[in-house]
Amino acid sequence: MQIEPFALERYFARHEFSARYLLSPSDCESWRMSDLLSLADAETRLLWENLRLGYTESEGHPLLRDEIARFYAPLTARQVLTAAPEEAIFIAMNGLLDAGDRVVVLEPAYQSLHAVARALGARVESWPLVVEGGRWSLDLNRLQDLLRASTRLVVVNFPNNPTGYLPTPGEWEELISLVRRSGAFLFSDEMYRLLEYDPSMRLPPACTCYERAISLAGLSKAFGLPGLRMGWLACADAAGMEKFQIFKDYTTICSSAPSEVLSIIALRSQEMIVERNLAIVRENLATARAFFGAQGGRFAWIDPCAGSVAFPRWLGEKPVEELAEEAVTRAGVMMVPGSMFGYGGGHFRVGLGRRNLPEVLSALGSYLGQKGG
Ligand SMILES: Cc1ncc(COP(=O)(O)O)c(C=O)c1O
Repeated sequence: MQIEPFALERYFARHEFSARYLLSPSDCESWRMSDLLSLADAETRLLWENLRLGYTESEGHPLLRDEIARFYAPLTARQVLTAAPEEAIFIAMNGLLDAGDRVVVLEPAYQSLHAVARALGARVESWPLVVEGGRWSLDLNRLQDLLRASTRLVVVNFPNNPTGYLPTPGEWEELISLVRRSGAFLFSDEMYRLLEYDPSMRLPPACTCYERAISLAGLSKAFGLPGLRMGWLACADAAGMEKFQIFKDYTTICSSAPSEVLSIIALRSQEMIVERNLAIVRENLATARAFFGAQGGRFAWIDPCAGSVAFPRWLGEKPVEELAEEAVTRAGVMMVPGSMFGYGGGHFRVGLGRRNLPEVLSALGSYLGQKGG
């Protein structure tokens, strides 16, 4: 398989561990292992203390799958397969697609959501989010036009990375009914689910609404635990899940034993962990909105509806890629330009999940101040 380089991940590889300030991470503040372990109950503490570092069950630890299945009733643990989130995208696309298949992908998108399909020889068609009245919005008429009898798969990601867009429950229902009518599969990347600022906006997972939908979720974003590399696929379609399992045997075979136990602990403390992270995101959202609004008209802020990222625009004369290069080399502020998502228009990503965002903005502000207009 020939696959294009992952622009965003290569960009992070260049700067993530050398830049002093990160403006654009997508995850929430990570947890210390000791803090996570302090949340263990009697059962998980014993699991941790007696853990042997052998292979684990290929589908995922039974207790872990039980915890995950709680998100997806009436689906059960048997309809859940654990995998690292990025791996889960890879195995799902491999399990679902053949060369020549038509795939519709909502964009802007995390690159693997279309690059793996393209590498498999699928014909990828872009379904763009549009900005209307200063807000991101979904064009369902466009989706209707794109769907054909030959469309094999529709790929969406809500809350969306990088825009923070989230459809209304009514739009979500309509989207699913359009896909259902076409007979296509729906791959729904729900990595930022649980980070809705208004809990009444939370959408039901796609796999609970449509039998040909696959939900992807994990602990990297809303839980702030990307180092666990824990994610999962949930789907009611048994034949589909079997194919994903077959592919997992060629990627990691099983998840990491320590990560599985730590993931059970995290899922059992979901409410507290996510609430802490949401509080950071809410505060940062207000700070970022005020900061970019006070830069003399050089930026256009676009409010996200949910999640830990926003995708505002730089309105200055030079390309945002040039601004990003200067900011990281001269001020140590790493910012991810929209081109890392194949998206123009001066957009760049702002991460709202880390505690030090005010400090990062202050470094960016000093740099912009020195530069003048
Ligand atoms: C939308 C989306 N899906 C999947 C992933 C992959 O998650 P992970 O990096 O934990 O493998 C990411 C990571 O940024 C993402 O933003």
